[in-house]
Amino acid sequence: MKPLFMWAGGKNKMLKKYTNYLPEQFDSYIEPFLGGGAMFVWAYKKNPEATFFLNDANEDIMRIYQSIRNDVGNFLTTLDKYQEDFLPLSKPERKKFYYALRQEHAYNYQKWTATEEAATLYFLMKTGFNGIWQINKNTNGRFGTPSGLLNQKDKVYDLSNIEEWHRALQSCTLTQWIIQAAINSVPQVALHSWIRLTAAHLPNTASTLTIKNKKK
Ligand SMILES: C[S@@+](CC[C@H](N)C(=O)[O-])C[C@H]1O[C@@H](n2cnc3c(N)ncnc32)[C@H](O)[C@@H]1O
Repeated sequence: MKPLFMWAGGKNKMLKKYTNYLPEQFDSYIEPFLGGGAMFVWAYKKNPEATFFLNDANEDIMRIYQSIRNDVGNFLTTLDKYQEDFLPLSKPERKKFYYALRQEHAYNYQKWTATEEAATLYFLMKTGFNGIWQINKNTNGRFGTPSGLLNQKDKVYDLSNIEEWHRALQSCTLTQWIIQAAINSVPQVALHSWIRLTAAHLPNTASTLTIKNKKK
């Protein structure tokens, strides 16, 4: 299992440097800033039996996680339809397709179910520049990343990775709160919990702070 998408500030490449700070054992993992989920992937591989609380204030990406968790069949159906329409196209046609879909996502998203909206955004992230999520005022304050190279050969997304996430997310509680709300609302999960906060979210903190063994 690997992160579902690239994310600014994602921790995938930093994981080796964190080795000395990561716990050997934990029964629950609380991630207030899920983003692309690199740290969650590490934690899940370390202990798939743990209880996971995953939070991010970004409702667009949380919708993707929710859809893959609760409605993966419809998520994949929507994604496959886009993929089938997109792959046979020439590069200039793909570009048109991308920008037309980005426009729909920006202004006409109300016509979709939450799962369709999530799958549309996921398709755009998989075909957009560097695979990242960026908002733009020209796209209604919604996803506005320019198109990527658009040179996909036979697939746009990794089906087995989405299936792995679907399984993993079954043991996760997903929330979409701001950091204070997330921390205050997490149930007291007794010993061996692990909460990971980083300097980016705690302005006066110099480095990663790990709170282990949070007690009542
Ligand atoms: C750098 S990313 C997290 C990287 C991720 N933990 C990883 O393992 O790769 C930071 C995330 O924090 C979220 N975020 C920032 N401020 C927040 C807040 N106050 N409450 C909840 N989420 C917040 C952003 O939406 C973003 O997705």
